[in-house]
This record gives sequence, structure tokens and C-alpha cells, in this order.
Amino acid sequence: MSMRTVLRIADLRRICSDARRSDQTVGLVPTMGAFHAGHRSLMRAARGECDLVVVSLFVNPTQFGPNEDLAGYPRDEKGDASAAAREGVDVLFVPSVDEMYPEAPRTTVHVVGLTDRLCGASRPGHFDGVTTVVAKLLSIVGPCRAYFGRKDAQQLAVVRRMARDLDLPVEVVGCPLVREPDGVAMSSRNAYLSDEERSAATVLSRALRATAAHASPRQRAESVRALVREHVEAEPLVELEYVEVVDGSTLEPIDELTGEVLVALAARVGRARLIDNCTIRVLDDGSTTADLGVLS
Ligand code: PAJ
Repeated sequence: MSMRTVLRIADLRRICSDARRSDQTVGLVPTMGAFHAGHRSLMRAARGECDLVVVSLFVNPTQFGPNEDLAGYPRDEKGDASAAAREGVDVLFVPSVDEMYPEAPRTTVHVVGLTDRLCGASRPGHFDGVTTVVAKLLSIVGPCRAYFGRKDAQQLAVVRRMARDLDLPVEVVGCPLVREPDGVAMSSRNAYLSDEERSAATVLSRALRATAAHASPRQRAESVRALVREHVEAEPLVELEYVEVVDGSTLEPIDELTGEVLVALAARVGRARLIDNCTIRVLDDGSTTADLGVLS
């Protein structure tokens, strides 16, 4: 079956209901386009598990702050459509801003607590924009499995919590963080980097990898953060915004390494704001393992 591009909410709703009526499962991959291997891995996961695969491509204005990169956000609708078709996507949903927001919305979804730390501290309102548009997409598509990357670990935790709190009929699926061969986390925003900045950006994943390799049970979170900071500070083109050690689902700061913890960071490199993370697990036998995602 060839891919259909759908512009209207009513059409997407009908396609998804028709599919469910004939007992098909629906998979949704929400995106803002400029597809790279990270996006494609989500499409592939959905293709492997669902009968009807829907990818939404919508550069959602409400999740960008006034001084952020909405106007310059990379767009490549034609390239994206071919990439999605190659991944076997059934429906590419590309609504206009007017279609999604015919009038200024007076209803938003706000997840308390999880959204005011990490990236939320420097991007006020960002996660409200994300949860509101994801709730709208889920309401349009209906019961489904929805795929999100662990690259945006905070977004994944926030969306999971929203789905749980609101009893949304969705199974939220978290997928591995996909990296460039040199370790840099794939991001549409890597396109903003000069060659020099792009090679400087490798310090972020190197810092996480080195820190994870040194992790030990009950290690103080502060020493984990200090190690990451030390690595990143050696690279003058990269300015660390934060590095935090938190519980992976509540995003509450933790004092020492036990169980499963998320080490998350954000940094400025040139005009790009990049994020990266890894998960460290302390096992019962006192050893530790680290999940840094996969190389593309
Ligand atoms: P966008 O940045 O386009 O990302 C779409 C999805 O791709 C997200 O779930 C994100 O986590 C995932 N992704 C991006 N880079 C990845 C990587 N390197 N490895 C694995 N997955 C990766 O995130 C958004 O759009 C928006 O906030 C959205 C959820 C669509 C709401 O507007």
C-alpha cells in the first residue's frame, strides 16, 4: 500500500476509526519533521508492531519560546515524505497551524512538577506546548500505541505521566536514543552546527560515556555531575546548561546511584541547544550497566 498524505483532522480520524473497526492496531509517531535516523527508528518500531502506521509532521508553534528557533526550524517536507514512504508508513499527517489551532486555545495540558526542572527550567511553557499537542494528536488518532524516543527522556516521562493521569487510551512506547557514528545524539538541530561546533559537540556523549564507565553503587550524584562538568568544560565551544542525576520516571533529583537513574544534560553549542542523556543501572550484585542508546 502506498503512503497517503493527510492534511485534515477529520480525514485522519476517519482513517484511524476505519482501521480499528476492521481490527487493525494503530501506531502513532509524533514528529516535527526533518527526519533523521532517530525518527526513522521510531517509524520502524511502529511498522514492526502495528497494522496502520501514522506519522504526524507538525512544527508545533506552542512549544517554542518567544526567543527560540520556530522560524528557522529545519523543514524538508518533500524529503520527509520520501523517507516516511521508504519506512513503510501508511499515513503522513501534515496539518497546517490553522488546522491544529483554528483559534487561540483556552485549554492546555500541564503536567505538574516533572516539567519545571531539567529543560523545563530554561524553557518555561515548553512542555505544556508538547503535552497539549500530543493530547490533541492522541485524541484525533484514538486508541493506539504511540512511539517516543529516549533522546528526549524528560518529554517521554512527561507524556507517560499525562497518559496515566488522564487515562488516555494509549500505550506509550519508549525507543532507544540513536547516535551518529561519532556518538553525537541525532537531532534536527545538529543542522545548526558549523563543522568545528559539530566536532566539539562530541564532548557531550564522551562525557556521559566516561562518567557511566566510572559509575559505582552508592556513588554520590554530585560526583557524577562533577565528572560530566569536568569533561564538558574542557571544550570551549560547548557551554553546559545543566547536568542532572534524577529518577528516570519521576525526574526527582537523587543523592546517590541506586536502581535506575537518568543522567541528563543540555548544552549550548553555537546557536544550537543540544540535549543528551544516559541511563545507569545499579544491579543487585553491585555492578553497574549503562544505556547510552545505539549507533546508527
Ligand atoms: P521531534 O524533535 O521531531 O522528535 C520526534 C520524536 O523523535 C520524539 O519522540 C523524539 O524523542 C524522537 N527522536 C528525536 N531524536 C532522536 C534520536 N536521536 N533517537 C531516538 N529518538 C529520537 O519531540 C518532538 O519532535 C515534539 O516535541 C513532538 C513530540 C512531536 C510534539 O510536538
